[in-house]
Amino acid sequence: MKIISENELSDAAECLRNGGLVAFPTETVYGLGANALNPIAVAGIFNAKKRPNFDPLIVHISELSQIEALFEKPINDAVYKLAERFWPGPLTIVHRKSAIVPSIVTSDLDAVAVRMPSHPIAQRLIHEAGVPVAAPSANRFGQLSPTSYNHVAKQNMEIDYIVMGDDLTKAVGIESTVVAIENGTCTVLRPGVITSDDIKSCISDFEVLTPGKNIKLVSPGLLQSHYSPLKPLYYIDSDTNILEEAGVILHKKELGRNYTAKTIFTSENGNLLEVAANLFSALHQMEEDAEVKVIYIDRTTEEGIGRAIMDRLNKATFQYRQ
Ligand code: TXA
Ligand code: MG
Repeated sequence: MKIISENELSDAAECLRNGGLVAFPTETVYGLGANALNPIAVAGIFNAKKRPNFDPLIVHISELSQIEALFEKPINDAVYKLAERFWPGPLTIVHRKSAIVPSIVTSDLDAVAVRMPSHPIAQRLIHEAGVPVAAPSANRFGQLSPTSYNHVAKQNMEIDYIVMGDDLTKAVGIESTVVAIENGTCTVLRPGVITSDDIKSCISDFEVLTPGKNIKLVSPGLLQSHYSPLKPLYYIDSDTNILEEAGVILHKKELGRNYTAKTIFTSENGNLLEVAANLFSALHQMEEDAEVKVIYIDRTTEEGIGRAIMDRLNKATFQYRQ
């Protein structure tokens, strides 16, 4: 595994073309990429992450015209409307796939997930590679998503390159919103900073569904437990008794909430975009701090972007709430 700077991007692009594995920054989280049209290369991703093969991958593109080859024709109008408004950016669109997409990419589903990232390094890498790039988040299965190249490096996965980028604390910081388009409906499979209201305002002639607890999800990768640090993580409530060896993550500075334990603020004033951008890096910091034995974290509202943040936190705390 070699860590390279963006000046050596053409080596990484060539590696992708030749079937290798490259971790790279996107504006959401770091991705672990392989040539999406090469099933053996894609199998390498599942192997490196120890990811179960029922969890399909997102295919990353750098030019809109690439959807013509990946999606089955006719391509639904909603795809173009959403792409025009939100690409490049943190939106993933799931649509019936064409025959060239290998079934290992979609876990045998007949639809494929596609995203055009806005991070300049991601765009240049995909463009130079000249192939669509299948990439999940660059972490071992179930663990925290990486928002810096160090987070990727500490996972010790068998990969060829990590492309160094900036820390993503000024970027989006949580994974893209995933929507599935079928006929006249659009289902929000994974919440993100592009909210279901944003989606509704863009395709007002479509029925936009946001599955609640009793609608079965059609996205196999969306497990109840996910994104977990390697230490116990609990929600903090007003009556929580904070242990000495705890780390506390809060989303707002408020009077009367001064904990003696190590505290990280994801935002000074509860700004949800800031909370999202700093969420994974705060969790990584607590995970890496040897003095912290247990982590407590604030909830946010469930409205708007809060829905995406609480989705990640509910999954990260799931195993400790049982
Ligand atoms: O922001 C992101 O989306 C990041 C960066 C690297 O682009 N990627 C990411 O990938 O979060 P991953 O693999 O951790 O999550 C992708 C999720 C899967 O868990 C799955 O639920 C959903 O997207 N997905 C992928 N392909 C799908 C498909 N064909 N049908 C339904 N859901 C799909
Ligand atoms: Mg992931």
